[in-house]
Amino acid sequence: MKFVHDTNSFLLSLVILAELLVHSSPRPTPSPSLCSMFGSMMHHVEKLINSSKKLHDLTDNQLLNFVDVEHKLDGLPVIPHTAAHFRSLKVNESLSQLYVYTESFRLHAKWLKTVRENVSVPSQAAEGASINLKHLSDLIKASLDQISEEVPESAPPSLPVVSTAFDALRFSVEISEQLQVFCHWSKRVLRHLQRPSHCQRR
Ligand SMILES: *[C@@H]1O[C@H](CO)[C@@H](O)[C@H](O)[C@H]1NC(C)=O
Ligand SMILES: *[C@@H]1O[C@H](CO)[C@@H](O)[C@H](O)[C@H]1NC(C)=O
Ligand SMILES: *[C@@H]1O[C@H](CO)[C@@H](O)[C@H](O)[C@H]1NC(C)=O
Repeated sequence: MKFVHDTNSFLLSLVILAELLVHSSPRPTPSPSLCSMFGSMMHHVEKLINSSKKLHDLTDNQLLNFVDVEHKLDGLPVIPHTAAHFRSLKVNESLSQLYVYTESFRLHAKWLKTVRENVSVPSQAAEGASINLKHLSDLIKASLDQISEEVPESAPPSLPVVSTAFDALRFSVEISEQLQVFCHWSKRVLRHLQRPSHCQRR
């Protein structure tokens, strides 16, 4: 056994040892790496919540002027939010869905970076979000591989050419809001996947 550095990991070792002694009969091996990938995904989603709010620099009051603005980006995923959806989630299907949404938002964030550069407004937040989304996407891909599930193909969204700062702002607001909806959805999905019944199955 490895040298134990601190009390916590010492206690953890005791718990694991106790578990091993109690469950002497053969049982499915828990998969700590899949569970820890879900944990890392959660971490990236938390970071993404922060960067999604910074995609535009409007105050809450200024944002009110945009509530009635028509949504223009048809390629943005429409996130389901019914309770029934969560009850029926299977690991393979939720990960595939999470992957498709993540890739779509990643491409939109990358596009937004170019759009904002083109009209000479700060684009670091869009770049930050697209990097967070890339990390998230890579982790989901790795966990799909781990459960031997095919990585879904996603068609690139069709995105308009933007020539005015106002349009760039409007699209920033739209992506920011939808990305926040996606983040909250992802957190619920990941919490569901982190439950022991899912985490330890494989
Ligand atoms: C998100 O932002 C808040 C405040 O700006 C900060 O305290 C928190 O650590 C950030 N979270 C992550 C995961 O970056
Ligand atoms: C997901 O796994 C279940 C069994 O756990 C299987 O019935 C279903 O067909 C799988 N779905 C996909 C999309 O592969
Ligand atoms: C950015 O500007 C270039 C050059 O003017 C143009 O070709 C490109 O379509 C613009 N990109 C977007 C996303 O509007």
